[in-house]
Amino acid sequence: MLAAILSASVLAPIAPGHTADGSSIVTNGSSGAPACASCHGQKGEGLPADGYPRLSGLNAGYLVHQLNSFADSSRSSEVMSPVAKGLSPEERQAVAAYYASQSAPPAIDQAANSELAATRGRDLATIGVWANGLPACNQCHGPQGEGVGAGFPRLAGQSAKYIENQLTAFRSATRQNDALHLMTGIASKLDEADIKAVASYYAKLSITAGKKD
Ligand code: HEC
Ligand code: HEC
Repeated sequence: MLAAILSASVLAPIAPGHTADGSSIVTNGSSGAPACASCHGQKGEGLPADGYPRLSGLNAGYLVHQLNSFADSSRSSEVMSPVAKGLSPEERQAVAAYYASQSAPPAIDQAANSELAATRGRDLATIGVWANGLPACNQCHGPQGEGVGAGFPRLAGQSAKYIENQLTAFRSATRQNDALHLMTGIASKLDEADIKAVASYYAKLSITAGKKD
């Protein structure tokens, strides 16, 4: 059995030049997609003011799922759908593995509000509003917002404007790629002020706290 596996892997054809190179796609783009770095940065630090998310250190499985979702339109984005469609499955894996392996510090986020972060935002993230059936965000996203595996993305260090956009997208169902629609239910219980507060909280949170991935 073992011998069969070994010889199969030795004999498996590896076509020269067909291995996707994540780093090169990020810098130069691929035959079907533009360079990711122009919007997300070479190390995935993101551009907070423009709502371009930080990709650095996000789980690779999570990143692949997002690229597949943009391509199959379960998550709609005029900017990202054509980019994702232009990447082959192998290129999606390669670029996800590349960004997952990076550890760029978050870019400075001017939109994050310290006072909201330290009060309402912190309470939503760590306690929730049980009277309203709203669990703490960290119940799913990790005790310090660090993320749990491929299913629950890290929020710590993600930029405020981007988080606000996603909560609005879940609420209006332009993003429907979340398992069991867990986030659709959560987002529907947040008002505008909650969204601003919790987005500021995570944007201000250190990415090294409770880091797992
Ligand atoms: C022209 C700017 C632009 C380029 C180029 C671009 N992106 Fe994006 N990307 C965005 C924007 C804007 C969003 C947020 C979309 C939204 O609000 O849903 C995004 C979101 C994403 C997300 C979702 C992140 C998350 O936390 O869920 C991934 C993954 C991603 N991009 C990967 C890539 C990759 C890989 C490339 C290169 C092949 C790339 N992007 C090129 C602008 C860009
Ligand atoms: C019951 C579990 C659960 C709870 C509680 C929860 N989330 Fe989520 N969250 C998810 C899942 C599942 C996803 C989608 C992952 C995917 O796209 O595959 C997600 C995704 C997100 C995203 C998108 C991140 C990105 O990079 O695009 C944001 C933002 C988010 N959640 C914010 C919150 C906030 C804020 C709270 C608390 C008010 C919260 N979540 C509570 C399960 C949960």
